[in-house]
Amino acid sequence: MSQPRRSPHDSYETETTDHQTETETILLKHLPRNPNLPSPLQKDAHLQFLIRNLIQGFPSRYISQDASQPWLLYWTLQSFSVMGVALDPDNKQKAIDTIMAWQHPDGGFGGGPGQAAHVVPTYAAVCALAIVGRPGPGGGWDQIDREKMYEFFLSVKQSDGAFLVAHHAEVDVRGTYCLLVTAHLLNMLTPELLEGVPAFIMSCQTYEGGFSSASQPYFSPEPEGPPTLLDSPRPPLGEAHGGYTFCSLASWVMLQPYLALQKPSLQRPSLNFKTLLRWLVQMQGSEIELGGFKGRTNKLVDGCYSWWVGGCFALLSSLGIVGVHSHDGNHESSTTHQEEEAWGDIDDSLWDRAALQRYILCAGQHPAGGLRDKPPKPADSYHTLYCLAGLSSAQHNVFLSSTRQDAIVRSWKTPPESTHEQLRQACFSHSLSWTEEEGTSHILGTPNNRMNATHPVFNLTMTHTEGIMAHFYKQTIPSRPKKT
Ligand code: FPP
Ligand code: ZN
Repeated sequence: MSQPRRSPHDSYETETTDHQTETETILLKHLPRNPNLPSPLQKDAHLQFLIRNLIQGFPSRYISQDASQPWLLYWTLQSFSVMGVALDPDNKQKAIDTIMAWQHPDGGFGGGPGQAAHVVPTYAAVCALAIVGRPGPGGGWDQIDREKMYEFFLSVKQSDGAFLVAHHAEVDVRGTYCLLVTAHLLNMLTPELLEGVPAFIMSCQTYEGGFSSASQPYFSPEPEGPPTLLDSPRPPLGEAHGGYTFCSLASWVMLQPYLALQKPSLQRPSLNFKTLLRWLVQMQGSEIELGGFKGRTNKLVDGCYSWWVGGCFALLSSLGIVGVHSHDGNHESSTTHQEEEAWGDIDDSLWDRAALQRYILCAGQHPAGGLRDKPPKPADSYHTLYCLAGLSSAQHNVFLSSTRQDAIVRSWKTPPESTHEQLRQACFSHSLSWTEEEGTSHILGTPNNRMNATHPVFNLTMTHTEGIMAHFYKQTIPSRPKKT
């Protein structure tokens, strides 16, 4: 078999071209002999790695990670879940007690005991509770102070629809995503919380098509004058990046029920899906890069973008941008944007699902267990989860089913009377209508490489998502039609 071609460059050597050349040389050594038979997934070794890492906690040289304790637990628990492993009741209880010690008395969760509340670890703590928690005393779910958390969320809201990630901290679209997921899971959505958020997301889209971390909130044409809030579109702040793009697009998907309930208006925020799709597609590496994803233009492939960028295609499908042929017989879409119509017939051959699986299996797995950015880097829990979740999204077609959404709406206990209740019902049914398309999963290599499907927006399994949402919305979720 001939060797794949090296990436072309213009012979002007820079640090960037050197890193690219070095990476290609290393990745070449990880090319499988048979492209359809990549290295098998070493589930046991990865489980052992995760357990070891969790028990040891962050090594002392990672003191800066002290505020990421909820993340370490979430990465570990969700990696277990996608690999189909559940904790025993004792370990679940230990995890619940640990998480609840991170709750701040004034609402939200901090990055460790006694730490200030922060929107981002709040997401990690609540998702970890979705996996291990339960209703009732000591179960975690009913000990979450939702009133105080809601007050905390409102207190970090800015007039332009952005959220600070914590008091006296910065605006970042990661905060928007984390806050929206938490508010969805815990039934805390209100029009007040969501007002202006779509316009903020829109303002983060860059000329490349991907999203940056934030946008310029204020603009003063007169240097001496008081700063005035700039109307949309505001200039994005910084470079398009896969992490921010996932957070923006997933937030946009979560905002669809809210947008659908708004009165039609000319100023309705919209995204440029044409440039977004083009940018996402260009983030997938070539054959010599084993089909892994990059996080930004002219940077290197990295296993974690398997989820942050690879996961965006399912999100686009829910907006009708990348077509998914569903058993429902209709094209799944909850879109509010006209331009999407023209893009609805593009199928997911736009990205190479098999190649991504090859990157994760051949380059992402560390021989001693755990998954990583790229060889020869060490494994860590963050890359372990996002490689495994990326593997899952490459294996399964998960789409938003209108049939499923209708069934969930039909089983809603009492008809919604206010717009507030309508919003909650719409967000509940929208979030829970993600459905795996039967018979279309594509597992590269041995069947043991199969991951569980994961919710494309929340990155929790459907079972965990349904469990926690049914509890907080006080609804019974209709069972899914039996597989035939
Ligand atoms: C650049 O790192 C990384 C960023 C600028 C931020 C990445 C953001 C995420 C991964 C999203 C996280 C999401 C949540 C919900 C918290 P780098 O310069 O080391 O990497 P690069 O060269 O690949 O850009
Ligand atoms: Zn990474």
